[in-house]
Amino acid sequence: MLETNFMGLKLKNPIIISAGPWNGDGKKLRNNLKAGAGAVITETIVSDPFSKISEQVAYNGQGLQNIRYYSRFQLERWQEELKIAKSDGGIVIASISGHSPSEVTYLAKKLEKYGADAIEISLSCPLGEGVEVPCSDRNFVYDIVKDVVGNVKIPVMVKLSQHVNNISEVSKAAKKAGASAISAINTIRCILGVNIEEGVPLLPTYGGYSGVPIRPIALASVASIAQSVHIPICGVGGIENYENVIEYMMLGASTIQIGTALMLNGDSIIGKILNDLEKWFKDKKISSIDEIRGKALEQIKPLDELSLQPMTCKCDDKVCKEGCNLCIEYCLENAIKAINNNIKIDKLKCIGCGLCVHICPVNKLQIYDEN
Ligand SMILES: Cc1cc2nc3c(=O)[nH]c(=O)nc-3n(C[C@H](O)[C@H](O)[C@H](O)COP(=O)(O)O)c2cc1C
Ligand code: SF4
Ligand code: SF4
Repeated sequence: MLETNFMGLKLKNPIIISAGPWNGDGKKLRNNLKAGAGAVITETIVSDPFSKISEQVAYNGQGLQNIRYYSRFQLERWQEELKIAKSDGGIVIASISGHSPSEVTYLAKKLEKYGADAIEISLSCPLGEGVEVPCSDRNFVYDIVKDVVGNVKIPVMVKLSQHVNNISEVSKAAKKAGASAISAINTIRCILGVNIEEGVPLLPTYGGYSGVPIRPIALASVASIAQSVHIPICGVGGIENYENVIEYMMLGASTIQIGTALMLNGDSIIGKILNDLEKWFKDKKISSIDEIRGKALEQIKPLDELSLQPMTCKCDDKVCKEGCNLCIEYCLENAIKAINNNIKIDKLKCIGCGLCVHICPVNKLQIYDEN
């Protein structure tokens, strides 16, 4: 039911563990496969590992900032690590990055030789001073992907970022160059916060933001790619439960990746999401991912195609015993009053913004089309 063919690889399920320190060596990769993942992606392997930074993450209960800069291992060490990772079977994707086509292709060829089942080219790390990420330049993406694809036999996925002017155009360049899939998104450049007592930032440099708060941004990136390019998509960003997996699929993703949620909850989250996902599929009598992929996509239209409909708000049973008055306080149009617990909505004032509907803690209010 959850098996899927992704880039020609037979995945037992669509849950892939993303590139990061949780996949930083062979044992971790193997453990995440054992915990049920359909595939795992190594921490990004580069030709010049950077090992200066000691403090690497900060977390505020919602999102996480990291300043960890790729794998610390030299390329050659990954020969042994990949052997360990694959020792109980399972699909291992090697994540790589670099500054030029020849550098990235060199890494790809070596990792193919070491046994990687596919390559993910990560051109999207936001660490550093500037907002530019390598994948901002679609010609650079094209040149790198074309060179790698021309030199390895295994499938090649390209990991993109929200930090590009037009993710659809960059995705088109990746497809034209022969990429088998696109993964989106990487972390978003951030400063998580400042310790105001000490007057210092939580971490001493710009980092990458991940976890739940980036999910809406990542969902939009996935939808934009799916609406403009016909290529398998792997959705990444803020996934912490099975509902999130389905959201990504309904917006066009074929597979998804999990990173921060695994870091914060441990690998048991993989089994939990898989069980819940399987149950949801069974309950809804859905037999394959293809049945739901892109289902919500057609409802996402360009702003200028939306027709303005007169919407208004109503309170079904009029009497509200809760009496929290939040709807009254929040309504910017002063359209709501409560007289003896009776909710009255002034239709002449209500502009149908929907705010009160989302604010009401007991779902008493609804928005409806007046026609
Ligand atoms: C500590 C940490 C290290 C990461 N390292 C890498 C990396 O080496 N290569 C990469 O492409 N992405 C890396 N990422 C990004 C994740 O793979 C993922 O794209 C991002 O965190 C969004 O997904 P999430 O919200 O599920 O974590 C890292 C993220 C974190 C939090
Ligand atoms: S829909 Fe908006 S304008 Fe109308 S009552 Fe609710 S908050 Fe006020
Ligand atoms: S927000 Fe909901 S519960 Fe609170 S007063 Fe308005 S209708 Fe009642």
